[in-house]
Amino acid sequence: MTQSPNQTLTLLGIESSCDDTAAAVVTDGPEGTRILSSVVWGQGALHADFGGVVPEIAARAHAERVDICIERALDEAGLTLAALDGIAVTAGPGLIGGVLSGVMCAKGLAAATGLPLVGVNHLAGHALTPRLTDGIAFPYLMLLVSGGHCQFLIVRGPDSFARIGGTIDDAPGEAFDKTARLLGLPQPGGPPVERAAAGGDPARFALPRPLLDRPGCDMSFSGLKTALLRARDGVVAEKGGLTEQDRADLCAGFQAAVRDLLVEKSRRALEVYLAEAPEAPVFAVAGGVAANGAIRAGLQALCAGLGLRFLAPPLALCTDNAAMIAYAGIARMRLGLVDDLTLTARPRWPLDEGAPALLGSGKKGAKA
Ligand code: KG4
Ligand code: ZN
Repeated sequence: MTQSPNQTLTLLGIESSCDDTAAAVVTDGPEGTRILSSVVWGQGALHADFGGVVPEIAARAHAERVDICIERALDEAGLTLAALDGIAVTAGPGLIGGVLSGVMCAKGLAAATGLPLVGVNHLAGHALTPRLTDGIAFPYLMLLVSGGHCQFLIVRGPDSFARIGGTIDDAPGEAFDKTARLLGLPQPGGPPVERAAAGGDPARFALPRPLLDRPGCDMSFSGLKTALLRARDGVVAEKGGLTEQDRADLCAGFQAAVRDLLVEKSRRALEVYLAEAPEAPVFAVAGGVAANGAIRAGLQALCAGLGLRFLAPPLALCTDNAAMIAYAGIARMRLGLVDDLTLTARPRWPLDEGAPALLGSGKKGAKA
């Protein structure tokens, strides 16, 4: 049964697909959309010694923390379970143990309360965030750039996504993290690489722009990482180590290459999107890499040149959170897309089932 848009819906959202345990309450109705609470309990410290997310540690932490996050989210919203209209949960893609923790908890709550259960694709949560924050109209173009994903999506509806390009190997966030590791900077690598790049010369090291000579919107970042490794080794062989300036120059060169790649591929993705003649065109970004000032500025300038609206949601909603899951759950519920207790966790779950499978979508796993 579809729900009338005039009916107010208040959903609990649960997210546990990677290394953030999160719960949130979102309400949506004729008076607008509001995030009543959004609790994110990051696991960074638990994985810090391992140089990446350890799935078993993540799954255990999610299992231990998910109910605590839910309780906090309800408390902060000033609501009890009885005031909800449904429970939305990330059912994939992601690390299977973590996704299972959330799905099992959501099923238990749905069984106990009789509330409708809505399984949400984590990527749909990211992709629908510009509607949660700015209420923009379909269709819009979304670039999702995170530690595990990199794809262009034309978002046509709450359950309608066309993937028109993506990375064929690493995700950009992963490349930032590897760059940081190669240069002895801390994890996650994006922020320290960006800080170091601010004092560097991007032209000192000639790093490649892979796939720019090929048509289409697919991207590749692994060659860039290898080129950075060679450049670093060249300096070390010559001088016996890296100075602060060498590090800054390497970071600046790497960041400029990622920016150029993303900007040029975005230009092509925009051509495909604009050919559909959308009435109110918008280019939106989401994911941790969208926090990068140089990349953001590059994309913003591209849109300004084309007279297009550019939208980057606030960082707390760009990175993993449960408000986006609650909101995507509301949108699904309005279409009558409700699950039952047979809902299962899906480690792989492409948003656009019709698009050819990507060769790689981040080697860290299905992190989004
Ligand atoms: O979306 P996100 O928080 O988590 C998932 O991947 O799910 O993205 C994290 C990624 C990390 O790889 C991190 O290094 C990158 O986003 N990141 C950045 C910046 N801040 C975070 N990359 C470049 N510049 C930044 N300022
Ligand atoms: Zn994500």
